[in-house]
Amino acid sequence: MDWVSVDKLGEHVGQTVEIRGWLYNLRESGKLLFPIFRDGTGLVQGVVSKKEVSPEVFEATRCLTQESSVIVRGSVRKEDRAPGGVELGVEDVRPLQVVSEKDPYPISPKEHGIEFLLDRRHLWLRSSRQHAILKIRHDVIRAVRDYFDSHGFVLVDTPIFTPAACEGTTTLFEVEYFDQKAYLTQSGQLYNEATAAAFGKTYCFGPTFRAEKSKTRRHLTEFWMVEPEMSFAHLEDVMNLAEDFICFIVERVLNDRRAELTVLERSTAPLEKVRKPFPRLHYDAAVKLLGEKGIDFQWGGDFGAPDETAISESFDRPVMVHHYPSQVKAFYMEPDPERPELACCVDVLASEGYGEIIGGGERMSSYEGLVRRIQEHHLPPEAFTWYLDLRKYGSVPHGGFGMGIERCVTWICGIEHLRESIPFPRTINRNYP
Ligand code: 4AD
Ligand code: MG
Repeated sequence: MDWVSVDKLGEHVGQTVEIRGWLYNLRESGKLLFPIFRDGTGLVQGVVSKKEVSPEVFEATRCLTQESSVIVRGSVRKEDRAPGGVELGVEDVRPLQVVSEKDPYPISPKEHGIEFLLDRRHLWLRSSRQHAILKIRHDVIRAVRDYFDSHGFVLVDTPIFTPAACEGTTTLFEVEYFDQKAYLTQSGQLYNEATAAAFGKTYCFGPTFRAEKSKTRRHLTEFWMVEPEMSFAHLEDVMNLAEDFICFIVERVLNDRRAELTVLERSTAPLEKVRKPFPRLHYDAAVKLLGEKGIDFQWGGDFGAPDETAISESFDRPVMVHHYPSQVKAFYMEPDPERPELACCVDVLASEGYGEIIGGGERMSSYEGLVRRIQEHHLPPEAFTWYLDLRKYGSVPHGGFGMGIERCVTWICGIEHLRESIPFPRTINRNYP
């Protein structure tokens, strides 16, 4: 007999099936045992009746400890009150490994401190809340790929070892690369610009690294970023894309992951409001808005997390703040032709105070302009020779953006901290497990 995954049990009502998994919980009530099994696809409650099974099976079940691995045979019964609509009338239980009572599974249903859990992240992933978050992450990533794949973008991967900075030299991880120095990529963007000139519209999706010594809940040192890039595009096109893309992702999760959002007790009302058009706020207007809210903010600076939160509180959906001063942005930004001190860039701030989830804009297309920027930012010119070539051989207006997967997942899940939105978080104080 084949074994059945728990999420498919509903298709086997009335049949005797085998499931393979782990003991999640066990309740005893006189001559009945109620083990809950999990197999990665779901939870199912078993019923073991002393009358109906052999004494060995009853005893073996009674002795199962949390997270013991088991193969279970039983008949699938309809049970409307159960989460998956079924329960399992257990006929046989074969333990594969019983977790020792002397060294029990460390994560019990009681409350644990966050450091305790993070040290045991390899086990914590089995908990229903973590499970729900990472399933939503999976769906977000699938939506990201589906979106670009169905909108004419070609996936072209970009390297992780790079010779130069993309997002500022202060947040680079330096590594030895034989007899040279290399840096872990902060963004695939510069390479995307090359691939977009080759393919028209491209995207890359992979891990990126930031060495900022930030301890905030919004920062990881290693995170996954998806970055589209389009030839013949201006800031307006980048904003249109960002808006459509976010709506697509949120709609997907609302359609496919209701159960997980419920586990997380995520209110879906704010997500239902994520519809086009998103408000577009010029940097000047954003500064004015902060002033009206009594927040002390000087024109010309970059917004900190509290400023972003304050701005987004005025809107019921993500807001796109555009035209920041060039001085607070990366070297490659196209200047606004009317006001060259401003950059043709956009940050998308998530609703409910979750802060920036997307950063992007139009890239400098002039060769001379870019040479000047590289000098002004004290970047090593030799590392950018290839990048400058893109402005020598058929330069066109182009642009794109980057979205941090974890920022997006954290917002959609309505959770506190980025560290739960990635399977194995890397932060300033954590590189284990
Ligand atoms: O705004 P950032 O730094 O922009 C870029 O890297 C551009 N080169 C992207 C592009 O235009 N192709 O980063 C983009 C996004 C942010 O909006 C945020 O979602 C995420 O990446 N991000 C981080 N996520 C987690 N931890 C960090 N330390 C992050 N830094 C940026
Ligand atoms: Mg940014």
